[in-house]
Amino acid sequence: MKAIQIALLGMGTVGTGVVKILANNARSIQQKVGAPVVIKKILVKNPDKVRNITTEAQLVTSIDEILHDSDIKIVVEVMGGELPAKDYMLAALKAGKHVVTANKDVVAKYGRELFDTAAETHTDFLFEASVGGGIPIIRPLKQCLAANQISEIMGIVNGTTNYMLSKMTNEQMDYSDVLAEAQAKGYAEADPSADVGGYDAARKIAILASIGFGARVTLEDVYIEGITNITIEDIEYARELGFVIKLLAVAKQDDRGINVRVHPAFLPVTHPLAAVNDVFNAIFVKGDAVGETMFYGRGAGELPTASAVTADIIDVARDIRHNVSSRILCTCFEQKPIYPVSK
Ligand code: NDP
Ligand code: HSE
Repeated sequence: MKAIQIALLGMGTVGTGVVKILANNARSIQQKVGAPVVIKKILVKNPDKVRNITTEAQLVTSIDEILHDSDIKIVVEVMGGELPAKDYMLAALKAGKHVVTANKDVVAKYGRELFDTAAETHTDFLFEASVGGGIPIIRPLKQCLAANQISEIMGIVNGTTNYMLSKMTNEQMDYSDVLAEAQAKGYAEADPSADVGGYDAARKIAILASIGFGARVTLEDVYIEGITNITIEDIEYARELGFVIKLLAVAKQDDRGINVRVHPAFLPVTHPLAAVNDVFNAIFVKGDAVGETMFYGRGAGELPTASAVTADIIDVARDIRHNVSSRILCTCFEQKPIYPVSK
């Protein structure tokens, strides 16, 4: 049985998780795909770095070694950042390789170009891990809820800030100490100002709104306020009044158009989102037929995120193995009115 060979771009927190899952669950993955899935090459910045994992894959420092390798059918981008990640993904699609990514920066900004290129080259472009870490949310929105008119998507979509706010609330921990902890656990972005400034959550809600509403929602359309000004005192005052502070991402669609925002909010302690702690995320989606649905799970971290990335790899590998395409063309990015949030 011929193995399906793949390449990773990056072996940091998420890449390491993918290496572990593909090794630890090799047997069951092989059964699901109908062939072994093997990592042939991994692109890294520094091949001499001491890593806490061993792999038989070849560490390379040039993308050309992957793009020009005809054995490699799937390129898994887990290096992060806008560039060169976007260019590498475009080049991979143009070289006829399927692409899986966890990169919300690129999907939120260049999604359209990548979807169009994938459609032109008859390749897959999957990005389940870009929102909600291990929570299935992209595929449910695109496929399982496709029958609905979606009116609202709302919830906690950043693990780092939820971890921080939970620890500040429940253990009175200091902002900088708890941010350092979130970084050490691998939850934070390379530049953690994307997390605490609300930009990471804004990218994610822009992606969800684009898919859910079939619209073109970009970072520029999102009102953004992060948690940098939240103090232990704010949290204490909220507690005295029966509230907790959470960083919410909200996207609504009504007769006027679409409205998208990210900001800290006071939630009554009885609200379901008030009980979402630690690195967990939770996302409500409201559809006209299904009513309200809720998606919950770990929103960041090595194995939860790698779970979503690896599921995408399995999906593509299955299609390759059986010579079929279960590709769902992305119908998002239609121009629709977006109205500003009144403060
Ligand atoms: P890390 O910073 O831990 O890892 C990045 C990896 O990419 C490293 O192996 C690094 O190489 C490699 N790399 C970075 N730049 C280059 C470059 N120019 N050329 C070659 N290799 C490069 O990132 P994460 O694993 O945390 O995140 C990866 C992606 O996943 C990001 O898009 C992030 O937003 C997304 N994501 C992360 C989650 C998480 O919980 N961490 C959750 C959901 C999504 P080297 O090892 O040599 O330094
Ligand atoms: N930095 C992100 C977070 C990673 O904390 O949610 C997951 O996308």
